[in-house]
Amino acid sequence: MLKTLREYIKEAEQKGVAIGHFNISNLEGLHGIYNGAKKLSTEIGELVPVIIGVSEGEEKFAGLEMVYDMVHSIRDEHDYPIFLNADHHSSFESVKACIDEGFDMVIFDGAKLSLDENIKITKQCVDYAHEVIKNTGRDILVEAELGFIGSGSDIKEVIPEGAGILTTPVDAKNFVDATGIDLFAPSVGSIHGLIKSGKPHINADLVREIAEITNVPLVLHGGSGLRDEDFTNAIKAGISIVHINSELRLAYRDEVEKAIDQNPNEITPAKLLTPAVEAIESIVYNRLKLFNNITP
Ligand code: G3H
Ligand code: ZN
Repeated sequence: MLKTLREYIKEAEQKGVAIGHFNISNLEGLHGIYNGAKKLSTEIGELVPVIIGVSEGEEKFAGLEMVYDMVHSIRDEHDYPIFLNADHHSSFESVKACIDEGFDMVIFDGAKLSLDENIKITKQCVDYAHEVIKNTGRDILVEAELGFIGSGSDIKEVIPEGAGILTTPVDAKNFVDATGIDLFAPSVGSIHGLIKSGKPHINADLVREIAEITNVPLVLHGGSGLRDEDFTNAIKAGISIVHINSELRLAYRDEVEKAIDQNPNEITPAKLLTPAVEAIESIVYNRLKLFNNITP
């Protein structure tokens, strides 16, 4: 029987590696991610767990039930540790809908709210998850965040105003204690999206301090465009899950554009979209290799 996501996260903490979290909007994205993870698993002779994320927008486009069915068909039919997360959900109702659908984890994103409101709704999500765990025996993880790191997996000219203020260890501890979350996403230097002027370095010392004081697994958002050493330092310091989205979106768009330009008379979706799936596979494979500390 497959381990639970909670067990995989514990294992990642013990091994000093991180689990990759990649967003999807469609089936091509899911294929690319699964293929990349499976390729690495086959190479190292060990199953590499992976988390599929859908934001509210991605979920709306792909369909809540469809996303759940797609991920579960891979998990059940191939016995592969692929998990599903409701990424950056902005209300208790949208978090609840994903818990009710059967998601493995949920993120309440209250980064733009006042601290009190963020704590209140996060706690409501945690309480609901606990109730469902008790009634069903399923496991559900709840993550929340503190500190605004910009919104949107897109291309940005510069770091958005107000983003990137680092989370202090004391605030982190108070927030984790007040909410009872399973996973915590602090602001430690990364910003959502690809920043043309470059991303700041990750403050690994801060990651270490927050990991020690909060005593819950930490999640790094805004992974696209970070330098390899930022990932390795952050993971060594206590990051257990890393989120990547914009890099996949950019690769998808570039490959679709290229395929259409180069084959003006081609109308078969499978032919036009295969390079995009392969590009996603390659990014996921390389990122997972890095996150899992596997040297060539
Ligand atoms: O939740 C999604 C991520 O934090 C993605 O960030 O677009 O910078 O890779 P990214
Ligand atoms: Zn994020």
